[in-house]
Amino acid sequence: MKAFLLFSAAILMLGLFWPTGDVFAEDPALLFERLTCHTCHGPQGKGMVRMETKERYYLRKKAMFKQMVKDGIPVDTVKKLIPMYKKKYDEKGDFVQAIEALIGKTDTDQYKDIIIKIGGRVYYHKGELIPGFEDYPRHAGNKQLYLYRQMKDILEGRRTNGNSEAMRGIRPYIDSNNITDEDFRSIAEYLSNVKYKDGEE
Ligand code: HEC
Repeated sequence: MKAFLLFSAAILMLGLFWPTGDVFAEDPALLFERLTCHTCHGPQGKGMVRMETKERYYLRKKAMFKQMVKDGIPVDTVKKLIPMYKKKYDEKGDFVQAIEALIGKTDTDQYKDIIIKIGGRVYYHKGELIPGFEDYPRHAGNKQLYLYRQMKDILEGRRTNGNSEAMRGIRPYIDSNNITDEDFRSIAEYLSNVKYKDGEE
């Protein structure tokens, strides 16, 4: 048993430290992550966009109830909403349902927009660019040869415009993993085959 475990561990280590490329080609999808490409170009090169929508609905201040009255909701209706004070909802649907349970459908239909405006906060939407990464290109679906040439030009210092310096920070990974030209070509091929539609995950 012990010998078996040692043997498995050895295989694992070999997997981790085996020089890639020159001996056998590695899965380009894994390489893309191992070389940290995804931290700047997004999962599968789909760009640095939000993978999900993040929002919260939350009547966290008494002033919010006062605001509802100011915005035209009758005091009696607003009072019925007090049980929702400080309860957090991650989805608009749940929030609206809670409102409806307290004030009924008709009033909900009439007032929900006001209440959502007061208690809701959208942090970001799925598919939105993550701030700070506006100039970090998406690769998914781009032409293989183009991607390959750009990578080489950036890493070999021929393309020095824009933010390319940021990418040259990965050179140590390229060297320590013995990444070959063939690896770059297979990463480019992999990226060009990732299907991408605007706003898609
Ligand atoms: C630290 C962030 C960072 C990392 C990590 C990174 N890149 Fe980049 N990459 C960039 C930036 C920024 C640009 C745009 C450079 C410019 O403005 O000229 C870029 C450009 C590119 C381009 C050219 C795209 C185009 O449309 O012109 C390719 C292809 C590319 N990167 C592939 C990769 C691959 C493959 C890896 C992993 C081996 C990787 N990058 C790792 C930041 C990064």
